[in-house]
Amino acid sequence: MKIGILVGMENTFPPALIEKINSKGAGVTAEYIKIGGVRAGETEDYRLIFDRISHEIPFYRSFLKTAVLNGTIVVNNPFWWSADEKFFGYSLASKLGLAVPKTVLLPQKGYIAGVTDASLRNLEYPLNWEEIVDYVGLPAFLKPHDGGGWRDVYKVDSLEELWAAYDKTGTLAMVLQEFIDFTEYVRCYCVARKDVLIMPYDPHHRRYLPREASKLTPELEDRILRDTLLINEALGYDLNTVEFAVRDGIPYAIDFTNPAPDADIWSVTEPYFNWVTERVADMLIDYALNGPATARYHRWSKWL
Ligand SMILES: Nc1ncnc2c1ncn2[C@@H]1O[C@H](COP(=O)(O)OP(=O)(O)O)[C@@H](O)[C@H]1O
Ligand SMILES: [Mg+2]
Repeated sequence: MKIGILVGMENTFPPALIEKINSKGAGVTAEYIKIGGVRAGETEDYRLIFDRISHEIPFYRSFLKTAVLNGTIVVNNPFWWSADEKFFGYSLASKLGLAVPKTVLLPQKGYIAGVTDASLRNLEYPLNWEEIVDYVGLPAFLKPHDGGGWRDVYKVDSLEELWAAYDKTGTLAMVLQEFIDFTEYVRCYCVARKDVLIMPYDPHHRRYLPREASKLTPELEDRILRDTLLINEALGYDLNTVEFAVRDGIPYAIDFTNPAPDADIWSVTEPYFNWVTERVADMLIDYALNGPATARYHRWSKWL
């Protein structure tokens, strides 16, 4: 039985994962997958495909959806992944009872060629910026509704700064979000919707801190654990990271649609790298041997 690994430029996590899976002697082997022209409706050689890169390569995403149809287990589920974005996530999380910063989805600044005013008649114009800013407060974060990798993220301190940033966003749909002036920030791996690792993180220097640096109380860690499991169960992701900014003892969910989360040893550091490699290897072997456990695939509505 084979597991195929689909990767981008990362070069520490995938080889470690392949080695880990192959060393377990579980009757399941892992290797990099090779794909050329894909025939519709044809069965794959792989029992499971682990996807780290289809968010950047539409060809892979299309292939993976067909692979699911052909009975291959794909982690993460390419249908959920295609459907989700950050703003949907904030709405979902708030309905699930997580603390979420006040967030407003904004009409785009720019549109693709061919879209004229006639196509935009449903849009309120001009926007009521004062009302929007009154709601989220200042400073605020302006970021893409489906962003990732810290791209096009702006912190703005005034209406003028907001407009200047918004003017640079082109055809991106953006959200404006309440700034959480946090005392602690954590990033949590969630694997197989059951294993959670809370990692203290320093966003100012963009680096992970050792577990000992955590200043969270056991009660707060419990809440973060529960919130992480709940949001992943609802989103249907088998591997994800959830970021929380803690203010006045409340963990605000900031970023949690990361189905190909950073797992590079030089970034996440060795202890966290070892943890995630081990857990993901076990999960993939389990899914390959015991099936995708369709019961694990919930509909969002069930959790609302
Ligand atoms: N509402 C917020 N309050 C405080 N800091 C934020 C907020 N939103 C984003 N940030 C900061 O900006 C960083 C990038 O934003 P994030 O939503 O994680 O985008 P990305 O998906 O690009 O990582 C976060 O790690 C955090 O440090
Ligand atoms: Mg982030």
